[in-house]
Amino acid sequence: MASKQISILAKNVFHRAANSSKKTAFQAFSSKTNVSTKTRRKLPDDGITLSKFIASQQPEMSQNEEENLGPVPTSTPLDLYKEEEPLTMKFHLKTYGCQMNVSDSDIIRSILLDEKNNSIQFEETQEEMDADVLLTNTCAIRENAEQKVWHRLKELRAHDSKNPLEKIALVNEEEKKTRYGKKKANKRKRIIGVLGCMAERLKEDMFRDGTADLIVGPDAYRDLPRLINALAPKPTGNTGQQDNQESLKMYEMPQLERALNVELSFDETYADINPVRANPDDVSAFVSVMRGCNNMCSYCVVPFTRGRERSRELESIVREARILFEEENVKEICLLGQNVNSYHDKSESAILARPAVENENSENKRGSYRAGYNMSNDGFSNMFKLRGGAGYYFVDLVEAISDISPELRVRFTSPHPKDYPPELLSLMAERHNVCNHLHMPAQSGSSTVLERMRRGYTREAYLNLIDDVKTLIPDVAISSDFITGFCGETEEEHQDTLSLMDHVAYDQAFMFAYSMRGKTHANRTMEDDVPEDVKSRRLQEVISMFRTRVQERNDEMEVGKLRLVLVEGEAKKKKEGKIRWGGRTDQNKRITFDYKKCWTEENIQPVLSALNQSYPSNPMMRSDLLYQLATSPKVEVQSGDYAVVQVDEARGHVLTGKLLWRASQSMFSEMGLDENSLGLFGSY
Ligand code: SAH
Ligand code: SF4
Ligand code: F3S
Repeated sequence: MASKQISILAKNVFHRAANSSKKTAFQAFSSKTNVSTKTRRKLPDDGITLSKFIASQQPEMSQNEEENLGPVPTSTPLDLYKEEEPLTMKFHLKTYGCQMNVSDSDIIRSILLDEKNNSIQFEETQEEMDADVLLTNTCAIRENAEQKVWHRLKELRAHDSKNPLEKIALVNEEEKKTRYGKKKANKRKRIIGVLGCMAERLKEDMFRDGTADLIVGPDAYRDLPRLINALAPKPTGNTGQQDNQESLKMYEMPQLERALNVELSFDETYADINPVRANPDDVSAFVSVMRGCNNMCSYCVVPFTRGRERSRELESIVREARILFEEENVKEICLLGQNVNSYHDKSESAILARPAVENENSENKRGSYRAGYNMSNDGFSNMFKLRGGAGYYFVDLVEAISDISPELRVRFTSPHPKDYPPELLSLMAERHNVCNHLHMPAQSGSSTVLERMRRGYTREAYLNLIDDVKTLIPDVAISSDFITGFCGETEEEHQDTLSLMDHVAYDQAFMFAYSMRGKTHANRTMEDDVPEDVKSRRLQEVISMFRTRVQERNDEMEVGKLRLVLVEGEAKKKKEGKIRWGGRTDQNKRITFDYKKCWTEENIQPVLSALNQSYPSNPMMRSDLLYQLATSPKVEVQSGDYAVVQVDEARGHVLTGKLLWRASQSMFSEMGLDENSLGLFGSY
């Protein structure tokens, strides 16, 4: 029986690979999973479908018997299967890495929880020790990210070896001996699965030291239920006896000992999957819009772990965002992609809606983007040459999401500086609900390092873009990523990074010491020649430059300002016993404030506009209005509300402030308030 099941699995993988690389997928499954040659049997070559094949293996049953037995698991001998319900397995999912991984974990959760076709049903557990399947969604961006995962896997396996879930007997004693030997035969192991970028990078090497049973890459998550099913020993409902007469629960032999699917895809976007969010009460949600990266920066492993760029259809993204806003109290959508602003929907409907037309000389940039592709400015180039043509671009997508409601905020990450065309910047300036925050990962401030990194821009082009952004979008916050100690980085080149940071004064920065990654261009052609202590010293200098400048900038730009904050809920830190709440400003800065009742915009708005017109010439009217305001009822803000908060202090990039009133995005932007408006209240 078991060998038939393995053939089915192999054939199924082969079918799924038909659109891209048959050979790779088949090899991935069969040769890289330690499936014995005995198990690599072929199905009858008659084009039989999987479901028909399974059905043909089941004995004939009367209608009644079928009802009593419930769904028939394909891998369990019928005479041994006593349970009516499918087996329930608990999975625990831990996520490392970037937001794309967080968003992928929501997809993985959805795939497992929605699983209907197997003999297993899945339930999620937050308790690691309560899980039958331990899944770790991993990151491969730097060596230390991988070290964390190795450490975790080893700890889990070591814990399980000392504390087997239970002692069991396996039905097929003969097979048990050949597969496991005597030692492991009586322990039921938990399935340890490695997902994500590290799984994709290391593939079968992740089976090293027996720390993992299951390896699944970022484009193969649909295959998870089937692979877990094949690895799961299933209880038969019977008990058996060991040599010493101890009575043991009997398990069927799992079909496979190890399983792997690391096939990358040209078109997988999981567009039809409804992500199950880890925290459904969160007022902001990630929506994945594109996957993969074509840029091939010389230091970066992402193109190898995530594959080629592909974009999800605009309509399906808008549909998901609308449901989140209308039905799930989500007030902020963060569009996600490894190169989010390289988004290009080339589907049939997108091409029909935005055909490519020649209007290169158009004066009107805002209208001209529909002709095709524009880059940030003349100093930027694409490493990947095949860009352009008909279809929807990122600006269309941002526009469409911001059209859903003026009360829905739109953000995006992680962008590349090359894809900020003028029309995108204008849209951001025009729309109050497209947040005034741009991530502009510079990586280095030295043109020679940028060239070695293959970033496709110079320091000058980057600085010109920053100038354009600051001119077009007043009040904009800019963040960046930096790498110190890249191959061949001299002290002078490092100083260029410091001077760039000094000049731009970033509002947020993510800074890393360079870590050489296998397969990358740098790995093949350059030497990782900056000593570790120099990398770390430079990193400290970069961090300290960021901290000094962000403090100065926030003291100057934020303190005293009125900011519209999306209230997230109770903040972790409590100050002097008072409850602190927190949220984020339009500029994506975290801000906390004391929780108290506050006025609403409806109370405030008439008073402010009357005061604006009549103060100080009519003091009587002013005091009447303020009395009216003072006696109007106050409300409690909830998470998901917008509120006006006045910033009173900045500690680095984190702000604290005073809660003033509950607001809406549209009215706040129409009121055009600044810190001076508060003077109108006088002592109130
Ligand atoms: N697509 C994004 C970046 C994704 S990776 C972009 O182009 O900006 C996130 C960040 O990790 C990068 O911006 C870079 O600063 C850092 N990073 C990537 N590879 C690295 C490496 N090999 N060593 C150190 N940092 C690295
Ligand atoms: Fe990596 Fe460069 Fe792609 Fe960003 S753009 S993911 S840094 S290769
Ligand atoms: Fe890491 Fe993969 Fe994201 S390498 S940064 S989890 S795309």
